[in-house]
Amino acid sequence: MTEELNECELGTREYWDKRYEEEIRNYNSHGDVGDIWFGEDIADRIVKWMEKNTSKQATIADVGCGNGMLLVYLAQSGFEDLSGFDYSECAIHLAEQVMKKNNYYFKLVQCDILKSHGLCSNFDVIVDKGTYDAISLMKDAKKNRTVYIENMYECLKNHGFLLLTSCNWTKEELEEQFLSKFTVHCVIPTPQFKFGGKVGSIVSVVVFKKKHA
Ligand SMILES: C[S@@+](CC[C@H](N)C(=O)[O-])C[C@H]1O[C@@H](n2cnc3c(N)ncnc32)[C@H](O)[C@@H]1O
Repeated sequence: MTEELNECELGTREYWDKRYEEEIRNYNSHGDVGDIWFGEDIADRIVKWMEKNTSKQATIADVGCGNGMLLVYLAQSGFEDLSGFDYSECAIHLAEQVMKKNNYYFKLVQCDILKSHGLCSNFDVIVDKGTYDAISLMKDAKKNRTVYIENMYECLKNHGFLLLTSCNWTKEELEEQFLSKFTVHCVIPTPQFKFGGKVGSIVSVVVFKKKHA
């Protein structure tokens, strides 16, 4: 049984708008793209998994793309059909600037992925780095987590992949939450720590496969 997390400001759009507004200012003044959530090593592990398991023509969506850096890394690796979605207008503006500076083109859309009209496409792969975590910190998180799972399911092709990176939930917790619509295909290994004889990871990267509709 999932115990909900405490609601906090990271679950609000106002927080992200303010944060990306500041990151745009930093980017314009000294070219800093801002946070790479969970670090470059995790982004690199995601890209490497994609290189081994997905065609370069696969349709890929980054939900809650923030500054768009994961899309840039995927574009650098040769992925051709990339789209980024974020409900923060400032995040989309920052991602547009970062994309142009790196001479790539991907589709960037401001939308709330919890709204049914948000994504409406048939993707081969969806990547989420930290967005389900933010949704888990919203008011009414339980309801919103369910909407998220249904929406991701609806806009993936049959047997499409959802790569979910989380620091709030373990692999076991995520598996339980997604099991009505997804199976765990694999887990991308992340650095582990040992504490009191127990081994754990700070970040979980779970690759879910959509169950057949
Ligand atoms: C922890 S940040 C991660 C950003 C990016 N994925 C990265 O790895 O740098 C969470 C992102 O999710 C976005 N987000 C949260 N809830 C959202 C929603 N309902 N629809 C679209 N974007 C959302 C936020 O604006 C923010 O950009």
